[in-house]
Amino acid sequence: MAFSKEALKAANALKSIARNEQIKAYIQQSGDLYPLLLRAAKRFVAGETRNEGIGKAKELISKGYGVSLEYIGENTRNIEDCTEAKNEFMTLINDLGKQQKEETISLDLSHIGLSIDTDLALNHLQQLANEAQKYGHTVMISMEESMKTDQILDLYKKTTLAYPNVGLTIQAHLYRSEEDIRELLNYPGKIRLVKGAYQESSEISIPRSKALNERYLNLINTIADANHPLSVATHDKGLIEDLVQRELFNRTHVEYEMLYGIRPDLLRMLKEQGAHARVYLTYGSEWYLYLCHRLAEYPPNVYTMFADMVNPSESESNIY
Ligand code: FDA
Repeated sequence: MAFSKEALKAANALKSIARNEQIKAYIQQSGDLYPLLLRAAKRFVAGETRNEGIGKAKELISKGYGVSLEYIGENTRNIEDCTEAKNEFMTLINDLGKQQKEETISLDLSHIGLSIDTDLALNHLQQLANEAQKYGHTVMISMEESMKTDQILDLYKKTTLAYPNVGLTIQAHLYRSEEDIRELLNYPGKIRLVKGAYQESSEISIPRSKALNERYLNLINTIADANHPLSVATHDKGLIEDLVQRELFNRTHVEYEMLYGIRPDLLRMLKEQGAHARVYLTYGSEWYLYLCHRLAEYPPNVYTMFADMVNPSESESNIY
């Protein structure tokens, strides 16, 4: 879908607002704004606490979906906060594991140490992978800005050979991804293919376009034809219809994954057609950043946000 210039300007402004610590602090301290925005955020996040995350996850699992659960955060700047985030993921793995086996925990490596020290991030990742393995859980690593791609690939490769339950997200919009995927097929972890959420230069990436969609389909075919574990992570109806026609979803190693609150109708349809359908579900106090991202990538969500503020029950009745 093409957006107007104004909508794209608003989206860029939202991306800046998301990173503005002063605005964030103001909202967090505002007795009026904070609860209002939290109402809107609940369309996209399970809540602020681990219990809310696990509660929503169980609800979705009981309806036949898989879940990827994430404690929201990125670019953590000191060791104590990285360790605290790692400990939260550790508790999440255990709490979820006591109730549900073989689910997925999703994380940004910059949340658990990558922005400070790669060895710290590696150590934390391996601790989490080891714990997750006890419950048959997968740990999916998200892909961040392109300046971090080499480091993220390196930590993934160092970990997945010992812990095949660790998988990696790859962004179709980066030119390099074709070659990266060819190499990653030699490693055991699941590959989650997304279009890419970060603004990257045209020298290294393709913007949203027909060309990107074709590329996305080609990369999906490469991974699927190699019988490699694959998560198709897009909300693009056109792409989904194309893939359904190719009967890609009936293969056991292929699953379909969407962000919580986005196109639940499409995901439900896939599930009803027999596809493995997974919901990517987040919780945590950093919901503000996550809400801004969802608004920025799809400006019409700004209208939905106002409607949710007035009538929050709508946002919580996502039809899964
Ligand atoms: P596209 O952006 O072209 O949108 C297609 C259609 O989907 C839109 O027309 C609209 O109908 C719907 N849609 C998309 N976004 C919407 C929104 N916010 N609200 C309402 N409707 C919306 N990115 C990244 O860089 N690193 C990562 O690790 C991840 N991880 C990740 C995991 C999972 C499970 C998913 C689904 C996505 C990610 N992403 C990501 C985000 C991804 O790169 C991408 O930005 C979004 O999925 C949106 O792109 P689409 O493929 O949906 O297509």
